[in-house]
Amino acid sequence: MIQKFTLTVNGKSHTVNADPDMPLLYALRNELGLNNPHFGCGLAQCGACTVHLDGQPARSCITTMSAVGDAKITTLAGLGAPDKPHPIQTAYIEEQVPQCGYCINGWLMTAAAFLRDKKKPTEAEIKDALSGLKCRCGTHISILKAVKRAAEVMG
Ligand code: FES
Ligand code: FES
Repeated sequence: MIQKFTLTVNGKSHTVNADPDMPLLYALRNELGLNNPHFGCGLAQCGACTVHLDGQPARSCITTMSAVGDAKITTLAGLGAPDKPHPIQTAYIEEQVPQCGYCINGWLMTAAAFLRDKKKPTEAEIKDALSGLKCRCGTHISILKAVKRAAEVMG
C-alpha cells in the first residue's frame, strides 16, 4: 500500500508517496532527481548506490523507504559543492581518478565517512574500509592515492 514519507535530504525536506518496501535509491533518483547514487547491482554488492544515513554509509538499493525513518540523508550532492568541494572530491580530481565514473559515488561517500572517523589511517585500514566497493574500470590504485591524499588534508 502506498504511504506518504517525509525525507530529509541534504538539509531539505521532501514528501514522497511510495510503497514502504521500495528502495530509497528509487525515491532519490526517480522522485527527487538526485542522480549521484547509482544503481549498480541492486544487491548491496558494489556500493554505487551509497548515501549517508545520519552520517553512516548505507546502500540505498537495499534500504527500504520504511527503514529510513527519521534519518537525515546525505547524497554526494550534499557532501561538497563545486565552489567548496570535500577533500576527497578534490583529491579525486588531483589524482585524476575517474574513468567511466559510474562507481565514483560509492567510493566518495564511503571514503568521506571513513576519513571523518579515522584520522591518519594506514594503507591497510584504507583498503579494509573500501573493500566492499567495486570499480569495473580498475581505478583502484588511483583511488588509494586519492584517499591517502585526502587523509593528509583531513588529518
Ligand atoms: S547498487 Fe547498491 S550496492 Fe550495488
Ligand atoms: S570508474 Fe568505471 S566503474 Fe569505476
